[in-house]
Amino acid sequence: MLELAEVGKGSYRVERHAIAQLPKDAVAEGKINKPEAVTAAMGEAWRALDSRTRNIALALPASAIISKKILVPSKAGENDIEAQITAEAHQMASFPVDEISLDYQILGPSPKSPADNEALVVISRRERVDERVAIAEAVGLKTVIMDVDNLAALTAYTQLVNQLPNGGKKLTVAIVDIGANSTHINILHSNQAIFQRTHSFGGQILTQEIARRFDVSLEEAEDAKRTGQLPERYKTEVLPGFLDSAAQEIVRSLQLCYSSTPYQNVDHILLCGGCALLPGMDAAVRSRTQSNVIAANPFARMALSNRESPQKLHNDAPLLFVACGLAMRRFDGT
Ligand SMILES: Nc1ncnc2c1ncn2[C@@H]1O[C@H](COP(=O)(O)OP(=O)(O)OP(=O)(O)O)[C@@H](O)[C@H]1O
Ligand SMILES: [Mg+2]
Repeated sequence: MLELAEVGKGSYRVERHAIAQLPKDAVAEGKINKPEAVTAAMGEAWRALDSRTRNIALALPASAIISKKILVPSKAGENDIEAQITAEAHQMASFPVDEISLDYQILGPSPKSPADNEALVVISRRERVDERVAIAEAVGLKTVIMDVDNLAALTAYTQLVNQLPNGGKKLTVAIVDIGANSTHINILHSNQAIFQRTHSFGGQILTQEIARRFDVSLEEAEDAKRTGQLPERYKTEVLPGFLDSAAQEIVRSLQLCYSSTPYQNVDHILLCGGCALLPGMDAAVRSRTQSNVIAANPFARMALSNRESPQKLHNDAPLLFVACGLAMRRFDGT
């Protein structure tokens, strides 16, 4: 959980953050398997956050949504747009229409068809939304925004553009989020999204390998991985293989991007997600991709409240990338 305050247009102060561990398998590939465990973890983070704010922004995983860009006539009124979008949503859904949760955003004039606007239509099963809202409610929190994790990552990215040469213009940048079970890649050119991919690869693979090699439980393996308290063989025999697999997965995604877009190289790779904290991840990705690799820290230019320790926030930053994009949504008036 992360709380930001706006301290001027587009400038933020980090008020507070808190991280609670979810038990293994409580959420897997975006599915909430153990709602009680998620409620407990959310309650724990909320108590640690110690905030008076009760309104929150949450995200659905990209795997729980279907999205599509469509054209709507620029001259159409709101009712006509909604009718068109609803009809489109019915086409997109592979499940009963009364279970659709729908949202859309007008993106702006279409480059190819000047009389039209591009609109992004996003649908999900209503149940996916409701189960998250219910968990927040059980903790006493009110969900005012339901975003999508990879779209929230793009929002957080706007805090990083001024750390890039030319503010990201003419550059191709990949945001790589390596979590527990999945890796999301968003690729942008001149700060516009051009490619995205999610695949099932994440830190859980390394945790399992540690448990197997050193004959410890998965919980012990998870702790040891975070603290680095493992026999020397871990660093020489276990970790390098995982880092290299992660880098190869990234290369595979980049190649898919090159074969489906006009762009043939990536200038910068921004790493986030828990696995970005593994020692040597940046070097492994750099050596396989030949790109400039940086740990994504969206807070680098933000002010901090006196509750926040700069060192701790810096360490936790890769874990808070999506949360940062969500907290920023509070201020955009939508
Ligand atoms: N300090 C650390 N050092 C190494 N690995 C870490 C550290 N902190 C977290 N991780 C690992 O990062 C992974 C969790 O990352 P993250 O919180 O980004 O995942 P998630 O968003 O919950 O999962 P997913 O995106 O797959 O749904 C776990 O495998 C965890 O072991
Ligand atoms: Mg994640």
